[in-house]
Amino acid sequence: MCGIVGYLGKRNALEIILKGLEKLEYRGYDSCGIVVYGEKLILKKTVGMVKDLKELFKEKIKADIGIGHTRWATHGGVTEFNAHPHFDCQKNIFIVHNGIIENYQELKKILVNKGHLFNSETDSEVIAHLIEDFINQGDNFEASVHKTLNLIQGTFALLIFNKNEPNKIIAARFSSPLVLGIGKNEFILASDPLPISLITDRMIFLDDSEMAIVNKEGYEIKSYVNNLKIDKKTVGLDLKVKTTEKEGFKHYMIKEIFEEPIAIENTLRGRILKDKTGTKIRGLEEIYHKLKNLKRIILTGCGTAYYACLYGKYLFEEFLPYIIEAEIASELRYRKINYDQETLVIAISQSGETIDTLEALKEAKNKGAITFGIINVPGSTIARTVDAGMYTYAGPEMAVASTKALISQITALILIMIYLARKNLMKPEEAKNILEELEKIPDKIRYILGQESLIIDLAKNLINYKNFYFLGRKFSLPVALEGALKLKEISYVHSEAYPAGEMKHGPIALIDENFPVFVIAPNDSLYQKTISNLEEIRARKGKVILISDKFPENKIDYLISIPSSLEILYPLLTIPSLHLFAYYFANLLDLSIDRPRNLAKSVTVE
Ligand code: F6R
Repeated sequence: MCGIVGYLGKRNALEIILKGLEKLEYRGYDSCGIVVYGEKLILKKTVGMVKDLKELFKEKIKADIGIGHTRWATHGGVTEFNAHPHFDCQKNIFIVHNGIIENYQELKKILVNKGHLFNSETDSEVIAHLIEDFINQGDNFEASVHKTLNLIQGTFALLIFNKNEPNKIIAARFSSPLVLGIGKNEFILASDPLPISLITDRMIFLDDSEMAIVNKEGYEIKSYVNNLKIDKKTVGLDLKVKTTEKEGFKHYMIKEIFEEPIAIENTLRGRILKDKTGTKIRGLEEIYHKLKNLKRIILTGCGTAYYACLYGKYLFEEFLPYIIEAEIASELRYRKINYDQETLVIAISQSGETIDTLEALKEAKNKGAITFGIINVPGSTIARTVDAGMYTYAGPEMAVASTKALISQITALILIMIYLARKNLMKPEEAKNILEELEKIPDKIRYILGQESLIIDLAKNLINYKNFYFLGRKFSLPVALEGALKLKEISYVHSEAYPAGEMKHGPIALIDENFPVFVIAPNDSLYQKTISNLEEIRARKGKVILISDKFPENKIDYLISIPSSLEILYPLLTIPSLHLFAYYFANLLDLSIDRPRNLAKSVTVE
């Protein structure tokens, strides 16, 4: 994963790069480092977060160029030596790298035999030594980088600085995101647009096999395969920097949970017809002529985004005359699937950078499927790869654990379903009924969030338990999966989700008084069946927490009450309570909620 930032221009490079790295910490935060050049060259690295790196800069530093990195370790442990920037033997060439160099071992062997001395156990360091080696053989800096890029295999977004040409940064990408921001006599390079917005809203998204040679006077973009110049379009992206601040909340995660109502409103904005009898989705309109023979829809994503896919499967099956599948992207890409022009693949991703989702999508596209994206981050790689798509407009999601993004993905799926269903058999009144109810959901979530003190009490009551089950049927199954994932990823307690009807086929064996079970059972078509499963748990002394708008007469240990709604909309009301529970449980344990151990927000390695 990892985040990279480079800056050159009239401002203080150190400050800009450090600020930029903070914005990219969601990509990795086990160690970080920076090299800046002004009156002299300064290189500093540390284990820990960007705030720890800042501590190393006590005195004011004047520098107008530099590159920095925040790491999520892949090759080599979390140590200062393995932190980037990496450098060559002479400490002239400095690189920061996001991705994996797959052939680094053979390259390293050759370089070591030639006498190169390595400082780290990383795959990335070979890049600096390769460039040095070509320079030693008489090539100039740019030609050396060019040759190196054609030798390395794998994935990379790279920034390269040469102390002997201190007016320049060379950047390159293959399969890892990289954006160039164009200011007035200043440039910034970064893994995503957030740091770019520190200086400009004009940017260029580099594509695979491209390199950018940037100096203070200007920039040039070339293919490193054939060395030909490429004319790239500059795009304007106005990212409201203020929405990436915590705004008084203790953590990003709780702020983002409280933004769930507004995330829905933003996803809906401009997409519901005035008379509410249908939806308007520009991306679908663009490709609708290709969907005339549509037979199959495959929804794909990872983690929480996959749970949105699962919800989408159940939703689409209910209203659309197609075969609907939901697939985990990391599995999908390695399976033998027959794609054709009668198949629509919908990729769901908050970041738009998840490599498993991207690769599954590319595979489907190459084999002839029509592709569509439900993406949050504007301009991200998946957003630029799909045939068409829609943004969820949930706003920047900074906490590693995804919350408001899921809520907006579900909202987007409902809009898509109605768009396609209205082209099929859905009556205008049915669409109207769903859309009117959907518009009421944000206020219903606000009501749920208003009861957070009850969830805090629940978290206090359950804080000493080490195992949890989450159960639900049909539309509540993705909700159960989400509840279990959120709790385990930020609290490090064991939590698992099952379709409620599956319990009796094995998992119920674990139930005793030490195993609390969340049962998600809104008053829908499967309510009675789920309540029977709940009774089976109680009969084995399991502690039950019921999330519903209808409560059985028998005494239940804990109740979380939600407002009523349509069956297909209940997940939008049950998920926020589980997000609150996971958050407050982890908060009581005083854990690093926004940056949980071993995780990163944007998973750009397989
Ligand atoms: C869980 C979580 C992850 C992501 C997954 C996909 O809280 O955040 O499971 O949902 O890594 O990420 P995106 O949506 O960026 O593709």
